[in-house]
Amino acid sequence: MVFVDACKRRETPYTPIWMMRQAGRYLSEYREVRKQAGSFLQLCHSVELATEVTLQPVDILDVDAAILFSDILVLPLEMGLPLDFIAGEGPHFSKTVREKTSVNNLEIGAYKKLTYVYDTISQVRKKLSKQKALIGFCGSPWTLATYMIEGEGSKTYTHSKKMLYTDPNLLHSLLQKITQELKGYLDMQIKSGADVVMVFDSWAGALEREAYFEFSWKYMKEISAFVKKTHPQTPVILFPKGIAGYLDRIDGEFDVFGVDWSTPMEYAKKYLGNKYVLQGNLEPSRLYDINAMEEGVDSILSVMGIQSGHIFNLGHGMLPDLPRENVLCLIEMVKNKTKR
Ligand code: CP3
Repeated sequence: MVFVDACKRRETPYTPIWMMRQAGRYLSEYREVRKQAGSFLQLCHSVELATEVTLQPVDILDVDAAILFSDILVLPLEMGLPLDFIAGEGPHFSKTVREKTSVNNLEIGAYKKLTYVYDTISQVRKKLSKQKALIGFCGSPWTLATYMIEGEGSKTYTHSKKMLYTDPNLLHSLLQKITQELKGYLDMQIKSGADVVMVFDSWAGALEREAYFEFSWKYMKEISAFVKKTHPQTPVILFPKGIAGYLDRIDGEFDVFGVDWSTPMEYAKKYLGNKYVLQGNLEPSRLYDINAMEEGVDSILSVMGIQSGHIFNLGHGMLPDLPRENVLCLIEMVKNKTKR
């Protein structure tokens, strides 16, 4: 598999490419299946339909990896927090976790209930070409905790940060509880057929430097060390978004560092490129314009070259209204420009 080889820094015929949120609303085929499912969560729950949308980007775009179609928030849902996705507003939990009792009430072993995820993974792996990798994933403890504490997406993270500075032990006990679940969750995903796993720390950039390493990166490292110990052959990708200023302190046992678009590739290469394969980091909005897109691709390749050590990706998720023909063009372009 080109993608798995690239994660292990082996020689590949070209730089592999996939895109975060590659299954989504910019594809009419996705919108069609989503309508059939009724809601986003029902789509996540349906093994047959989730399998179909997981495979769509591989069939349509010929990307090198499929990523499990699901959401990071299905774990907190199974831990006991009823979840809704409100159109135009995003995720919403009807309960929040802001004091000791609600941390204690969170269900232990909830990952065992995510059978629809494991079944989707094994279905996809059965149908996917042997040349293509399947990526399993989860949210980071910190990013999941912010949703559980706030009850929804946030710009200020008021309640999460209040807990961090007024009752750090409570936040740690929540993060530890989530970490335990995530270990079981990724272990089960790999046993079900995921070839690679990725941890999304989307709200890493909400934390100041010291707080980031104490409340987020520490747990990311704990999870990746666990995966590397239990499944040494499975590559682990860590994606902390928005921490360009902290790269000098990044360490740990993992294979690939996901570089977001706000982090200059030069910085990532300087601090991490010798130790980790780098994945990224085209600004997704560049896909609105072909010239802007090519300029972005050239700039990334001028830093990363066309040797092993790089996986091409966007620097964050695909946007719902990106022109599909430009996405197709990007895949072609990267494969052509990086042919060895
Ligand atoms: O193609 C893929 O990348 C796989 C599927 C995937 C989804 N969510 C599907 C989804 C993945 C890997 C995620 C991860 C996820 N979910 C993250 C981390 C990555 C990131 O983007 O930073 C986060 C923070 C979430 C939480 C979440 N889920 C939000 C904030 C939203 C609403 C925003 C939006 O785009 O509407 C979702 C919903 C969601 N997750 C959609 C998809 C395709 C849109 C649902 C729809 O309307 O069809």
